[in-house]
Amino acid sequence: MNERTPEPAHRLRRLRSSAGMRALVREHRLHPAELVLPLFAVTGRGVCREVSSMPGVFRESPDMLAEHVQRAAELGIRSVMLFGLPDGKDHEGRSALDPAGVVPQALAAIKKAAPEVVRIADLCFCEYTSHGHCGPLDAAGHVDNDATLALLGQQAEVLAAAGADVIAPSGMMDGMVAAIRRALDGGGHEMLPILSYAAKYASAFYGPFRDAADSAPTFGDRRAYQMDPANGREALREVALDLEEGADMVMVKPALPCLDIIRAVRERHDVPLAAYQVSGEYSMIAAAGACGWIDAPRVMRESLIAIRRAGADMIITYAAESASREIREGRFDA
Ligand code: PBG
Repeated sequence: MNERTPEPAHRLRRLRSSAGMRALVREHRLHPAELVLPLFAVTGRGVCREVSSMPGVFRESPDMLAEHVQRAAELGIRSVMLFGLPDGKDHEGRSALDPAGVVPQALAAIKKAAPEVVRIADLCFCEYTSHGHCGPLDAAGHVDNDATLALLGQQAEVLAAAGADVIAPSGMMDGMVAAIRRALDGGGHEMLPILSYAAKYASAFYGPFRDAADSAPTFGDRRAYQMDPANGREALREVALDLEEGADMVMVKPALPCLDIIRAVRERHDVPLAAYQVSGEYSMIAAAGACGWIDAPRVMRESLIAIRRAGADMIITYAAESASREIREGRFDA
């Protein structure tokens, strides 16, 4: 008589028994071409200064950026996102409209050194205004939405003329995509795509970025234009509107706190979807790793694959280079 104890009807562990078996049934993988490397441009020559709250992230002059992008390209990275730190700031952020400004200089230097790399230009005023808000202020001290739209159109034209390959507005102004599309088309740049920071939350995870880009608001916060982290449906409205206005790609930001939003956008829309693993996400992993509290490379790999699993096509991450190296070394598939 066969006296067997009741067996589990299903044994999912069968397919977890070896590295080869796990690789065979793995649902998601990353490729360096899907990672976007954010870069901080400053003026000058030979400048490369580490951001204190972001180990491994630097503010670099155009010549150093050019070499940096060449090294990144050797790792398989094919696109970068540029932020600029101007020499001077004023109330309106006029240096953002300088055709010889820091981002136009960086765009040119990178084009020369690594012509194949896609240069995405972040479009916002917070790095350029003396008050650190994302556009000019009205009499009450609020960002003036419609005045900002006109300026964003001008900034987009400047960056387009400087050779940007993608324009990525990040200021969460209503109507920004339509205004930028109109300006670009009017200037003969109808083929230049827009990656909209469509669902961008008013997040405390941006803290280290504001050190890096010197863009913290000098008063108040960004909750009157960026989204409330308590809201999910509103993100879908933001995305739908940006697509209606002509966005070619949309972004959800931050990434790990917004996996549900990434998934919801993925299910509703068929456009390319980016997720931004922001500065705080990066720095928390780096800091806990430095304390010996977590295995930082493993936590980074797990975070990136979770963002992919949620539905992002591309990930903007400060870990683009280390992750690309690990992808090449097969560590994501170990
Ligand atoms: C500019 C901008 C910010 C980030 C990207 N573009 C800062 C902000 O909105 O305060 C944050 C990126 C990061 O934290 O890595 N508006």
